[in-house]
Amino acid sequence: MKKEIYIRNFTEDDIDFAVELIRIERWNYLPVDIKRLLEYEPNGCFVAEKNNKRVGFIFTISYDRALKSGYKSRIGWIALLIIHPTYRRRGIGTALTKHAMDYLYNIGANSIWLHSDKNAVRFYQKLGFEILGETLRLKMKSEALRDADIFTVEQDIDPLNKDDLEKIAQFDALYFGANRLEVLKRLYRDYPHFCYVARSSGKIIGYIMSRKNLKGYSIGPFICHPKYLDIARSLLCKCLASMLQRNKNFRITIDVPSENLYALSLLLKLGFQSSSKTIRMCYGERGHFREIKGIFAFGGLEKG
Ligand SMILES: CC(C)(COP(=O)(O)OP(=O)(O)OC[C@H]1O[C@@H](n2cnc3c(N)ncnc32)[C@H](O)[C@@H]1OP(=O)(O)O)[C@@H](O)C(=O)NCCC(=O)NCCS
Repeated sequence: MKKEIYIRNFTEDDIDFAVELIRIERWNYLPVDIKRLLEYEPNGCFVAEKNNKRVGFIFTISYDRALKSGYKSRIGWIALLIIHPTYRRRGIGTALTKHAMDYLYNIGANSIWLHSDKNAVRFYQKLGFEILGETLRLKMKSEALRDADIFTVEQDIDPLNKDDLEKIAQFDALYFGANRLEVLKRLYRDYPHFCYVARSSGKIIGYIMSRKNLKGYSIGPFICHPKYLDIARSLLCKCLASMLQRNKNFRITIDVPSENLYALSLLLKLGFQSSSKTIRMCYGERGHFREIKGIFAFGGLEKG
């Protein structure tokens, strides 16, 4: 059976196919999200074919991690794995995931991470992934935002500037644990009006970014020094106010590590509601997030 499965690189011509399966799963991704993933890791996105028919796909993204000893290692993320419903339980998901893991290991990853739907946990465990945490998705409708007190922001929060990006990436790595400058650059290029930064004595202490999704906006990455919780609130309020200025009816989603209790209480106070949970899993070396309590939102379930 496995010999009939052919795995090749994903190309722009496969985007429609991916969007079709994403719709079946009711996942909240736009074609532009697929394009972005393809640009981040052009050789790390794969399609499975069976009898010349496309039956599934998987994406990866790799990040450099500066280690204390000076050499660089990589953290890999696996994302958007879908097998067409007709072709499930025939080993295709396993073959695609192994292919993606081999790719990441061959380019130097020493740990691979992912956010798993609760129904797929068993599948990933069989491949050797271990459960390391949970990520909660919270949602809110724009109508509810009008009642939230988001326009009173006392701290100085600045719109993010292109020249800030290198420094933002260095600050971000202190929490996320890897350099993701390319991701930050691309998000800033596409959605500059949702990017804000906070400083104390000239030093960056927090930033926020957001992007469009099918029904509105996804917040993240959103990182703030855990000492400055009022700043985290102000960054979030600035970003929400900017969304409200641009659009009337929309939904907002945010993916928060369950370890960040302050982020959860802040969001619940603003009127966000808990909607779903994904399981954070890892294969290989476990060290990744340097300070998870400073992570107020992931950049997306698909890329950490
Ligand atoms: C999860 C998914 C990718 C698995 O793909 P697949 O090709 O069906 O998986 P495989 O045939 O390689 O499964 C290998 C093993 O994983 C386990 N497994 C797979 N799907 C499972 C399920 N739905 N429930 C429990 N175990 C499952 C089984 O042990 C299976 O071995 P078996 O069939 O011999 O019992 C596929 O079901 C899918 O596309 N689901 C919807 C999208 C999704 O959840 N993607 C995961 C992203 S978080």
